[in-house]
Amino acid sequence: MSESGAASTTPVQVKLVLLGEAAVGKSSVVLRFVQNDFQENKEPTIGAAFLTQKCKLDDKTIKFEIWDTAGQERFHSLAPMYYRNAAAAVVVYDVTSSSSLEKAKSWVKELQRQANPNIVIAFIGNKVDLVQPSSASEADESSNTIQPTSSEDSDDSEADDATATPSNKQSAGGAAKDRQVSKEEVAAYAEESNLLFFETSAKTGEGIVEVFTEIAHKIPINDILSQGRGTTGRNTAGRNSSSAAAGQANNNGRVQLGQDAQDGKKADCAC
Ligand code: GTP
Ligand code: MG
Repeated sequence: MSESGAASTTPVQVKLVLLGEAAVGKSSVVLRFVQNDFQENKEPTIGAAFLTQKCKLDDKTIKFEIWDTAGQERFHSLAPMYYRNAAAAVVVYDVTSSSSLEKAKSWVKELQRQANPNIVIAFIGNKVDLVQPSSASEADESSNTIQPTSSEDSDDSEADDATATPSNKQSAGGAAKDRQVSKEEVAAYAEESNLLFFETSAKTGEGIVEVFTEIAHKIPINDILSQGRGTTGRNTAGRNSSSAAAGQANNNGRVQLGQDAQDGKKADCAC
C-alpha cells in the first residue's frame, strides 16, 4: 500500500455502492474498511456518504470510490443514482434480523434488473459478533477492535421509519443475540445467484478486508481500464458531513487500514 513506490501506478477507480436495510451496519463496514474504526452508536446515514480507499492488487492500485447509501425506506428512490455504473455492490444484511435478509435479496433483484450487468455483488451478513460467543477472543487475536464501552442502548442508531427492525437496535457492549439467518441457507442462495458471500463483523473487523479483497479480484480491471478508468457518477448530493469529511481526507492521500490500531500489521488491505 505504498504510494511513493507506486507513483507510476495510476489507480484504477472502482465505483462501489453499499445497499441494505437501515441499521444493518453498512456505514460501519465502510468505516472499518477505510479507517479501521468502529462506533458503537453510529448515526443513520442521510442520503448517502462518499468515501475512498486505495488498495494494492498485484501491480495495480485500486481506488475504491464508495457510495454508502442510507437504508431508510424514504431514501430508496435515490439508490439508482448511486448504483448506476457501479462496478461493485456490497449488499448487507444483519444475521440477527430475518427481515433484513429479505430486504437484501430485494436489493439484489433490483441490481440484477437495473444495474450494470457485469456488476460484482458481494452479499454480506454483518454483526456476527453478536451471535458468536467466541467474539471476544477473536477480538484479542486481531488486536484491531474497538473495545466496547458499556453505554445504554442508543435510540440514535435506530432508523425513524417503518423499515427499522427492532432487532437491529444495537445492544450496548455487544450483548449476544439470536441468529435469525442461517449461514448455510444464505451461502446456497448466494451461490445460485452468483454472489460473493461473507459473514462479517464491522465491530471486530472479521471478514471486512476479505470482502473488498474478493471484490477486487473479481472486478474486470482490464475492462475498466479500457473504458477510460471506470467510474462515473461523482455526485456530491447527499453527502453526510462526517463521512464526506472522511472521503476528503482520503482523497488527500491514502488511508491505510489499521494504521492506528495495529502499527501496520494489517495496514494493507491485502487486495
Ligand atoms: P443506515 O445508515 O440507517 O442505513 O444504517 P447502516 O446500515 O449504515 O448501519 P450503521 O453502520 O449506522 O450501524 C447501525 C448500528 O449497528 C450502529 O449502532 C452500529 O454500531 C451497529 N453495528 C454495525 N455493525 C455492527 C457489527 O458488526 N456488530 C455490532 N455488534 N454492531 C454493529
Ligand atoms: Mg449508514
